[in-house]
Amino acid sequence: MNTTIAAVRMIDLPKIEDPRGNLSFIEEENQIPFKIERTYWIYDVPGGQVRGGHAFKEQQEFIVALSGSFDVVVDDGKDKKTYSLNRSYYGLFIPAGLWRQMQNFSTNSLAMVLSSTSFSEEDYIRDYPSFINYKGL
Ligand code: TYD
Repeated sequence: MNTTIAAVRMIDLPKIEDPRGNLSFIEEENQIPFKIERTYWIYDVPGGQVRGGHAFKEQQEFIVALSGSFDVVVDDGKDKKTYSLNRSYYGLFIPAGLWRQMQNFSTNSLAMVLSSTSFSEEDYIRDYPSFINYKGL
């Protein structure tokens, strides 16, 4: 609950370079610090649209731009930071308890999200005043 944006970090993934094409991979509790319970992806985002805009109480996540580019804004109620994701060999680890929004999607971008939890609407904090209240601010 008192997690700050200082806990958010970019993680470089292994990149096996090969004349036949490059390869990267992610193993749970190895490159990323949690067990993967669910994977989802966001695609066909029309220009100018924003995704996210909520916080999770339990869900930790790791976001990779498998194709194209987009920005992820993280916010702990006091400070905000914007990360640009545009390569498939690194991603953004976001612990639970932070507000996050995804925006500036390029055409044909593909956002992969690895999640530490299965889907639960109860885990979402969907309005910002409730988030501020949750953070005790
Ligand atoms: P939501 O997480 O609100 O999307 P975003 O944060 O990108 O704006 O999810 C949109 C809808 O999809 C919402 O009705 C819940 C549903 N959903 C699932 O059923 N399972 C899932 O794993 C996810 C991520 C969303």
